Amino acid sequence: SSTKLLIKGGTVVNAHEMEVADVYVEDGIIVAVRPNIKVGDDVTVLDATGKFVMPGGIDPHTHLDFEFMGTETIDDFFSGQAAALAGGTTMHIDFVIPVNGSLLSGLEAYEKKSKKSCMDYGFHMAITKWDEVVSKEMEIMVNEKGINSFKFFMHYKGSLMINDELLLQGFKKCKSLGALAMVHAENGDAAYEGQRRMIELGITGPEGNALSSPPVLEGEATARAIKLAGFINTPLYVVHVMSIDAMEEISKARKSGQKVIGEPVVSGLVLNDSWLWDPDFITAAKYVMSPPIRAAGHGKALQAALSMGTLQLVGTDHCPFNSTQKALGIDDFRKIPNGVNGSIEERMHLVWDTMVESGQISVTDYVRVTSTECARIFNIYPRKGAIRAGSDADIIILNPNSSFEISAKSHHSRSDTNVFEGWRGKGKVEVTISGGRVVWLNDELKVFPGSGKYVEMRPFSYLFNGIDKADAKYLSSLKAPVKRFRATT
Ligand code: URP
Ligand code: ZN
Ligand code: ZN
Ligand code: ZN
Repeated sequence: SSTKLLIKGGTVVNAHEMEVADVYVEDGIIVAVRPNIKVGDDVTVLDATGKFVMPGGIDPHTHLDFEFMGTETIDDFFSGQAAALAGGTTMHIDFVIPVNGSLLSGLEAYEKKSKKSCMDYGFHMAITKWDEVVSKEMEIMVNEKGINSFKFFMHYKGSLMINDELLLQGFKKCKSLGALAMVHAENGDAAYEGQRRMIELGITGPEGNALSSPPVLEGEATARAIKLAGFINTPLYVVHVMSIDAMEEISKARKSGQKVIGEPVVSGLVLNDSWLWDPDFITAAKYVMSPPIRAAGHGKALQAALSMGTLQLVGTDHCPFNSTQKALGIDDFRKIPNGVNGSIEERMHLVWDTMVESGQISVTDYVRVTSTECARIFNIYPRKGAIRAGSDADIIILNPNSSFEISAKSHHSRSDTNVFEGWRGKGKVEVTISGGRVVWLNDELKVFPGSGKYVEMRPFSYLFNGIDKADAKYLSSLKAPVKRFRATT
């Protein structure tokens, strides 16, 4: 790798336009984008003729080195990011989980875990309890630590789940800080009841995952979160939208003008729940996650919603456990660690193959849903999510005529299985450039720990535009208070 790089002759794609041009990079930054750039022989030249030159993918939803359900995800910040880079993703945003409710302790732990990073990353923060300390810590996160988004779990009763009262306090605080509220929308009380019912019926296997928390529970929680965010008048981001039920609530709210963002994840877009009925326990357990992967039909509807802009960007929810970890739930599906492997590396390929190759979205839309929209929502655009002078040199070269094949044998994740095993498709990321360095070329990965940078995210993204006006309008719409006179005695 060199500090000077020229990508020649490719079709440069941004979220709203594309043109044949050269891209010149120096010291990790894009310096120029125009046709026929001339350089000296100290510059490494990559030929991109006939290929697409695009912003590296940004994955808004990952769980690396995540302690969850009595175990820990099998990919840490190094192996997960190495896998990401091999698949054309150059930045991810991971979820910090508080330690005993403390945001600062949680962040400290994640700062340690992420020291071995080999690509750029940012953090969301989960909120798992509520008191004055948490409220104060949220201010510190936003004002000093570069975190501008908070996730509220409406599911995982007994561990991460919060109630509506906390949701309202949290939304209010997010709004006052200019931070984005995110929800895991599933009715946790009802899902808990559903799990008990399955066990009573003797359903102890992985299919209990889908049966205990049907789409209606995701739809209910999505609607509730949307309505409460509307009541507070703050933007809302719904993570891992898995069902038509949830998607339709988002669609309705957006049509009414509410600022709601919906994030489908790759597993929900391209898989269906039939695997959960596989007679082999481990094969089925691989697909256990929350919200559950849905029946065939939901994925297709989510794809259509993504193509129409009802849903705005694609995440992975990469949360891999290997077979021995999944086996923790061999007698009881409630103990199977929730999360699917195989997606941080596969997202760019699968979205291309499923959405672009099939003609559902354009190449510019591809850049929008895999990179640019995420950068805009989390307020790091145009440093990230764009091929233009001044932006970070996080760039991929995708060959639309080349093919890819997915297998646990060749993937870069540490997990021993891949939920997309055997998938063959068109459109291959042949080159990944991270911070101006060529890290993926000729199917070879050149990464080293410590080279990734923490990306601070500032509050008040574009989603907050107009919120003040709406508040003022609401206040002025309130009728004047009634003056009441009381007789004095
Ligand atoms: O099953 C899942 N999705 N595991 C990761 C944690 C979460 O809820 O995002
Ligand atoms: Zn660890
Ligand atoms: Zn979740
Ligand atoms: Zn997740």
